[in-house]
Amino acid sequence: MNTAVPAGSDAGTLYDRLIRPDRVHGSLYTDQQIFGEELRRIWYRTWVFVGHESEVANPNDYVRKRLGLQDVIMTRDAEGRIHLLLNRCAHRGNQICDDSRGNSSSFRCPYHGWTFRNTGELLGYPYNKGYGGKGKVDARLGAVPRVASYHGFVFGSFATDGPDLLEHLGAAAGEIDRLARLSPEGEAELTAGWLQHRTKANWKLLAENETDGYHPQFVHGSIFGVTGSPIGALYSDASTAVTRNLGNGHSENDLRPEFRKFNEPMRWFGTTESRVPDYVARMRELHGTDAAKILVEGAPHVMIFPNLFIAEIQVFNIQPVAVDECVQYSTAVQLKGAPELNKRMISQSIGSVGPAGMLLADDTEMYERNQRGVEALSPEWLDVRRGLSRERVDENGFTIGTATDETGMRGFWSHYKKLMEA
Ligand code: FES
Ligand SMILES: [Fe+2]
Repeated sequence: MNTAVPAGSDAGTLYDRLIRPDRVHGSLYTDQQIFGEELRRIWYRTWVFVGHESEVANPNDYVRKRLGLQDVIMTRDAEGRIHLLLNRCAHRGNQICDDSRGNSSSFRCPYHGWTFRNTGELLGYPYNKGYGGKGKVDARLGAVPRVASYHGFVFGSFATDGPDLLEHLGAAAGEIDRLARLSPEGEAELTAGWLQHRTKANWKLLAENETDGYHPQFVHGSIFGVTGSPIGALYSDASTAVTRNLGNGHSENDLRPEFRKFNEPMRWFGTTESRVPDYVARMRELHGTDAAKILVEGAPHVMIFPNLFIAEIQVFNIQPVAVDECVQYSTAVQLKGAPELNKRMISQSIGSVGPAGMLLADDTEMYERNQRGVEALSPEWLDVRRGLSRERVDENGFTIGTATDETGMRGFWSHYKKLMEA
């Protein structure tokens, strides 16, 4: 393992030594201690994407989720509130929920029969005389203390204080707005089910790749060639698309300049207006003259720190398993009130990220090769300097690079460093 952390005078400057403006140290992907620190300082502190409210649409629905290494039950209580409960009985720690999803107002532990409401509250325990009677035990299920959602995207934070979700999302909130705005009812849903890709690679290799516009022409060259896809051109040297550091570790590959160039509604979706007439009509009805712009510009391509990636018509949720392993969950976006698009989004997602899909399989091959590569002791560094000398600041004050520059990765690392040093 590459644990040759470069020497320095004190621990306070460790991440200064590992993360430079133009390179990052290989030990960041292989060191057990750093992984442990990440759990404490990132996964169990900052806002982490967990799931979507539409996955628990009805009162008392629940679905099992992951947050870092934690097994979490996302519940909707009878009043409609969302909770993130930890899957551990308050008696002697047994796992309280087995099913991956269901509908129940309570959970009963199989070990000694303690029962908890889907808010975490203890409802009862058998043979209660052993505790002095009913209502004597002061216990409840553990829970993620702060839960908040934005356009139905549910995030949890184990920190009881610190920035609220909107502060954390910052400019990335506008990208979620853009996705929701593509629905004739203003709402995106994640109801198509999740595929799970277990990947033998550190989670950061995936987060970095989501913002890497340099690789598609090479890694996905064969699929672009076979399908005659125009996507490759979006990530070429000639592309007018930009990579934008949105702050707080978030970044986007803004493809709008390319779509504006063609000025064809629905081109972003690989189709034309005439093939999705009902959808286009509903959008025009709702947005009037603004509809043309919305239908030309399409969906966002945004990486929201540390683990939510919205790639136009797919959503990815990255969760770590170990220093060299993670799971990438993926699903097709479903736009409320757009059945014509939803069917296509599911079939396109199966084709790109499904078990026999042709896009994510290529990326996963790269993640795992990357992990095997960084285990080597030298050279110790990974290069993130691409485009550093040609970055500029856009009209809104964000740093941008070209479509293939590593501007997003540098934004990721500067926020990562801030959290790891906090
Ligand atoms: S461990 Fe759950 S009831 Fe005993
Ligand atoms: Fe890729």
